[in-house]
Amino acid sequence: MLRIVKLTKSYNGRELFRDVSFEFATTSSWSIVIIGRSGCGKTTLLNAVAGLEKADSGEVVNDFQSAFVFQDDKLIPWLTVLDNVTIGGVSALDAKESLRQVGLEGFEKRYPKKMSGGEKARVALARALVRKPELLLLDEPFSALDAITRTEMQRLVKTLQGALGFAILMVTHDLAEAESIADQILVLPGGRIYDAPFNESDLMKELGL
Ligand SMILES: Nc1ncnc2c1ncn2[C@@H]1O[C@H](COP(=O)(O)OP(=O)(O)OP(=O)(O)O)[C@@H](O)[C@H]1O
Ligand SMILES: [Mg+2]
Repeated sequence: MLRIVKLTKSYNGRELFRDVSFEFATTSSWSIVIIGRSGCGKTTLLNAVAGLEKADSGEVVNDFQSAFVFQDDKLIPWLTVLDNVTIGGVSALDAKESLRQVGLEGFEKRYPKKMSGGEKARVALARALVRKPELLLLDEPFSALDAITRTEMQRLVKTLQGALGFAILMVTHDLAEAESIADQILVLPGGRIYDAPFNESDLMKELGL
């Protein structure tokens, strides 16, 4: 399970969030999306959940096998696609299977610089999925993509979630993206949680739009 209790974090005297709480009771295909304006602390919250950063107070209990897709794709330019996915001791067979799942069969020997943004986003996704996560943490993985490619990637993530069965905790600043992925939307800085089906005008009000 993943349980976040009253997480609070400030940087340099500026409070990013206070008493944020939420939980995933099971590894079943449940999705929580964190939304908020640029600089409100979304990445900081996700990093705290992943144990990459320490909150000032509160509790993180995470016994899910987790995998992270970072805000930039963080592919290693001098490694092929296959080597980017096998990094950290994953078998080539598993890596090829993950690349097939994200639609990149035949791309194994390519280098990142010869790929489109959408293709690189798929590699980053494959590199996370190959770890067979129970929880997939996604930090605006598609924000640099055009609208059509982004929609394709959102659908791919939901399809893979259904097929493979993992929970998603995702960050975005895009309301439509949040609605397309989420069962629950957590809005920063307040930390209030909205359940699907979403009332868009409530969410827009909460975001100050
Ligand atoms: N290590 C750090 N030290 C000091 N301040 C930091 C640190 N990391 C982040 N911040 C500040 O905390 C705030 C929140 O940063 P964060 O990266 O969590 O925002 P975000 O919501 O993910 O923004 P974006 O949507 O632009 O990615 C920003 O003002 C940032 O400058
Ligand atoms: Mg961020």
